[in-house]
Amino acid sequence: MAGKATLSIKDKKTELDVLTGTLGPEAIDVSSLLSNTGYLTYDPGFQSTASCESKITFIDGDQGILLYRGYPIDQLALESNFVEVCFLLLNGELPDKIQLKEFRNAINRHTMVHEQIRNFFNGFRRDAHPMAVMVGVVGALSAFYHDTLDIKNPEHRAISALRLIAKMPTIAAMCYKYSVGQPFMPPQNHMSYAENFLHMMFATPCEETRPNPVLVKALDRIFILHADHEQNASTSTVRLAGSTGANPFACVSAGIAALWGPAHGGANEAALNMLREIGHVSRIPQYIARAKDPNDNFRLMGFGHRVYKNYDPRATVMRETCHEVLETVGAHDAPIFKIALELERIALEDDYFIQRKLYPNVDFYSGITLSAIGIPANMFTVIFALARTIGWVAHWNEMISSPYRLSRPRQLYTGSKERPYVPVEARK
Ligand code: SDX
Repeated sequence: MAGKATLSIKDKKTELDVLTGTLGPEAIDVSSLLSNTGYLTYDPGFQSTASCESKITFIDGDQGILLYRGYPIDQLALESNFVEVCFLLLNGELPDKIQLKEFRNAINRHTMVHEQIRNFFNGFRRDAHPMAVMVGVVGALSAFYHDTLDIKNPEHRAISALRLIAKMPTIAAMCYKYSVGQPFMPPQNHMSYAENFLHMMFATPCEETRPNPVLVKALDRIFILHADHEQNASTSTVRLAGSTGANPFACVSAGIAALWGPAHGGANEAALNMLREIGHVSRIPQYIARAKDPNDNFRLMGFGHRVYKNYDPRATVMRETCHEVLETVGAHDAPIFKIALELERIALEDDYFIQRKLYPNVDFYSGITLSAIGIPANMFTVIFALARTIGWVAHWNEMISSPYRLSRPRQLYTGSKERPYVPVEARK
């Protein structure tokens, strides 16, 4: 605890504890404010609210810093791999060789889904958005594991975490295969996590293929970049759902639903669609003008961030990865990449964006990269959900494994005061 803050309301002074973390802003503990003063705090959008204490991820938005359990995101993205990062986020430390091997093997024992899961897909239209399918199928997983849903049991929490990490790629690839009318491809446990996903996405029973190792490495890096991001909207959704005692599959399904929105994880699909709509660098100025027009609700998708008021460190790695992938697939002169680079250059020189500290975020280049890998735009947020599952599960587990309370915010009520019911005959 770092000391006290004094709140003066009319003639009454109230002392509040000031809490100090390892890094980042200190926090004023207002948990007893209502009982001590009769006042609520008011913070729509939670711009100034710490909803919990966490040891998993740290973001410094002004410095453009992102740490997973203290390790800088660019070092992990360039030197680690996604399965190792999953272990790190879940357990707090990098695994040794034996731990990493055991963790990878444990994931491999859960990559298949129950055969009955196939039936859920038949209830969807082939052109259903894959995020709608993911919300339904992932939530339905809780119908298959009645014997291990005691969230107070650490072993049940551990097996649920493994099942979610292991099955998300399988379910995500099934969403794609169902949409294109191709047979589901079973997971190949001898392949790496990202390689297996690309195999399940693009292989067919008709011929043996191996995904391009450069694309596998790029996708693994994309998974790392999207793995966690402290208390973002979807992770906060998972924590709030988890605080009711809901099972982890239902909580992750709620997280998937929250991620879908274009202000959050849906921005990668929206950013690519925006770049395609711009179509040529000569049309960029008119879109910049629209983004600046207060009467036009158009926004530059992939730009801006609630926390980052500097360059999103993930966007830097994402742009480099994008360039590598485009080189690999022979699309280094892809017009859409040129539009993105020029749009970024113009925006970063424009006072409107400079004053509002609007920089490209992780979603700005991810869409171009995923598209170059061959992944359709409506699967981009599914990839985001696949990667973010480890973040959601790590935060859920962190909350449930230590004392927690039901999350139940209050409100500032501005509706009608009490009034008597009026029978319809007597109404004007
Ligand atoms: C993710 O929280 C996370 O960590 C999320 C995420 C994660 O890993 O989980 O990082 C992933 O969701 C990244 C963000 C992806 N979303 C987008 O790219 C969509 C476009 N961005 C915006 O919608 C917006 O920037 C938000 C939603 C991301 C943040 O909005 P805020 O913090 O609520 O800021 P705001 O809307 O109050 O904007 C402040 C000003 C406003 O102008 P004024 O009213 O001051 O005149 O900046 C303007 C906004 O109009 N503005 C933009 C803009 N983003 C903000 N103007 C044009 N284009 C934009 N993209």
